[in-house]
Amino acid sequence: WIAPTCALLLGYLLGSIPFGVLLTRFAGAGDLRTIGSGNIGATNVLRTGRKGLAAATLLLDLLKGAAAVWLADWLFPGDGMVAAAAAFVGHCYPIWLRFKGGKGVATMMGIVLALHWPMGLVYAAVWLGLLATVRISSVAGMAAAVSAPVGGALFGRFDLVMLVLALAAIVLWKHRENIERLANGTEPRIGGSRDTEG
Ligand code: G3P
Repeated sequence: WIAPTCALLLGYLLGSIPFGVLLTRFAGAGDLRTIGSGNIGATNVLRTGRKGLAAATLLLDLLKGAAAVWLADWLFPGDGMVAAAAAFVGHCYPIWLRFKGGKGVATMMGIVLALHWPMGLVYAAVWLGLLATVRISSVAGMAAAVSAPVGGALFGRFDLVMLVLALAAIVLWKHRENIERLANGTEPRIGGSRDTEG
């Protein structure tokens, strides 16, 4: 049980680093949790008007998910999935922010890419494709998350399907306010005027 516990702790600690909050604060752009949607992800960092910071948040949130899988596979062979789940939970429910974390889209992308890169490519393609066309981050993120279990099944990776299905369910749960705004027609588009107001 020692190796899985270490993988779990490693994953959680990595996943719980709130890069969006840290980068925004260090850049002097305020407390991200009081800006826009209040979310700690790259989309909300973009609402500060700092594109570079938003890109860095996206990349780092993605990398911490991938790093958790890679490090666990290296240090605790066979426990990559434990670290993956823990990193995701760490991002969505970080102890440092009283368990009020992000919505999981970027971190799940890193996890899926590290677990099975073809599934990760499908995830990234769905996300980028919808981001470019629909231009609503939550729609792109939720669809990408749902594409992971579908992709896992299509690629015959049934060993991963339950895990990514659970992560996708949490991504949807975390977007419940976005879903409400989508239903009301008030969800902002990337770069839209409502979005810059937050
Ligand atoms: O990845 C988060 C995104 O899907 C939604 O972010 O700030 O628009 O709620 P936000």
